[in-house]
Amino acid sequence: MEMEKLVSLCKRRGFLFQSSEIYGGINGFWDYGPLGVELKRNIKEAWWRDMVTSHDELSVVAGAPASYEMTGLDCTIIMHPQVWKVSGHYDLFSDRMVDCRETKGRYRYDQLRGQWVEAKGRRVFVTTNAEADDEADDLRRRALKVFRLRNKDADALVWDGPIVSLETVDDFASVFAPQASKVGTLTEPREFNLMLDCYPGPIKDEKNRAFLRPETAQGIFVNFKNVVDSTRVRVPFGIAQVGKSFRNEITPRNFTFRSREFEQMEIEFFCHPDTSTAWYKFWRDRRFRWYQDLGLAGERLQLRDHDPDELSHYSTGTADIEYAFPFLPEGEYGELEGIAHRGDFDLRSHMEGKLNPETNPLEVELGENGKPKYKGSGRDLTYRDDLSNERFTPHVIEPSAGADRATLAFLCEAYCEDEQPSEKGKLETRVVMQLHPRIAPIKAAIFPLVKKDGMPEVAKDIYRAMKKQFPAFYDEKGAVGRRYRRQDEAGTPYCITVDGQTLTDQTVTIRDRDTLKQWRVKIDDVVDEIATRVS
Ligand code: GAP
Repeated sequence: MEMEKLVSLCKRRGFLFQSSEIYGGINGFWDYGPLGVELKRNIKEAWWRDMVTSHDELSVVAGAPASYEMTGLDCTIIMHPQVWKVSGHYDLFSDRMVDCRETKGRYRYDQLRGQWVEAKGRRVFVTTNAEADDEADDLRRRALKVFRLRNKDADALVWDGPIVSLETVDDFASVFAPQASKVGTLTEPREFNLMLDCYPGPIKDEKNRAFLRPETAQGIFVNFKNVVDSTRVRVPFGIAQVGKSFRNEITPRNFTFRSREFEQMEIEFFCHPDTSTAWYKFWRDRRFRWYQDLGLAGERLQLRDHDPDELSHYSTGTADIEYAFPFLPEGEYGELEGIAHRGDFDLRSHMEGKLNPETNPLEVELGENGKPKYKGSGRDLTYRDDLSNERFTPHVIEPSAGADRATLAFLCEAYCEDEQPSEKGKLETRVVMQLHPRIAPIKAAIFPLVKKDGMPEVAKDIYRAMKKQFPAFYDEKGAVGRRYRRQDEAGTPYCITVDGQTLTDQTVTIRDRDTLKQWRVKIDDVVDEIATRVS
């Protein structure tokens, strides 16, 4: 599937719009249209229901080491700034970037790619900021420009080695930056913190500086004690949260994949240190299955365990659930969700102060007033098991998913084209979004075959009955074939048609979006039949 086709369908049918489009848009921000908002809500609701509300804490779920409880939270986006100092985000949550002195362009050091090329006795590292597909073409064009060569002289370019990251280059004086007109305009790389700041209150000064959360997870850690004290949950248990997060990404790109405002669906699962590895494996497999069950069943989805040398010392495992998005080069995958074994790192940090993430001891850095700069809360965030009387700091397993990336992956997977005969018998390309019925924005569309003979009245009654249970759509405009096509593009799994026969035998046809099979059911049964199929 070509990404352009999906992007254009998303705009045309109201799944996704560029934010503030009438003012030229704003980079890294996206709006969900009428269909998109339903799709994303359905994904978040499926996650919440499957992970939290319908979880059966009385039984042992298949693959789990024991039974466990699940509960939820909804924390604020702006939190006490100390949260981010202690969590490490204030100091460490950064990407390295380079600036172009000429164009004022700003690029991620690890993402800017290019190739060494020689001509006219000079060797230059030509960079490209183009998306993967046209990288080689863009490099050729830029190389011709820097050496002032014509298209027909392209043979004079001697390419040296493959396309590589700017990180491999020592000699910045030889780098030809994207869009620049001369060589050597890039600055040395420097750290760029990804947290967006804000100044709550009337005075805009350093004392009042706060941050928009870059992850929802910290709200859960700092409320761990509140949840234990206010409910009867016992370890092992998980706390789930869905909400907005913000990151000042240097180069937002690939549609909604890397945005500056996005939504996360995170679980912090608290367990005994002795069983944490078993819980980690359970969550890794459980989360992978969740995507498969909702339709990401093919080879484009993969579970990738991190190599042991990629892990922090406190972690016994981290895995990513990845999807081969069509905008990535062949064979590359993008992260949908990370499942991390975090040990007791987070709870201990919030008790004791900023811990060094690599070695885990407390790092006491003194501020100007001589007091420790990264003081923890000083609160006791340990847990006492009331049966065994054991006191310990729980270990944490963190399945952390992005709602926007999941939505994008489901959209990519759903896009499908086939050939179908039109009403006049000619073969036409049909675009169909094969979304799983659980997440499809509209569950059924109801059409009267013609706008007369009492058919609209019957169809409207069915529509009203359906609307009480699930999102449905009534359409009486245009040829019925065209109405089917519109619903195929919206991903509506079922279309119901009221026709001449309905008036004599009280039955309607149901048409299946994917198989195109049609069958008749009694009017009285149609709502229940669709409800069962889409639940
Ligand atoms: N608490 C752990 C954490 O936040 P992360 O890997 O940085 O981990 C988790 O983020 C998930 O959030 C990612 O797997 C991705 O789905 C989503 N995510 C992160 N940055 C994003 C961005 N800039 N745009 C869209 N989604 C993003």
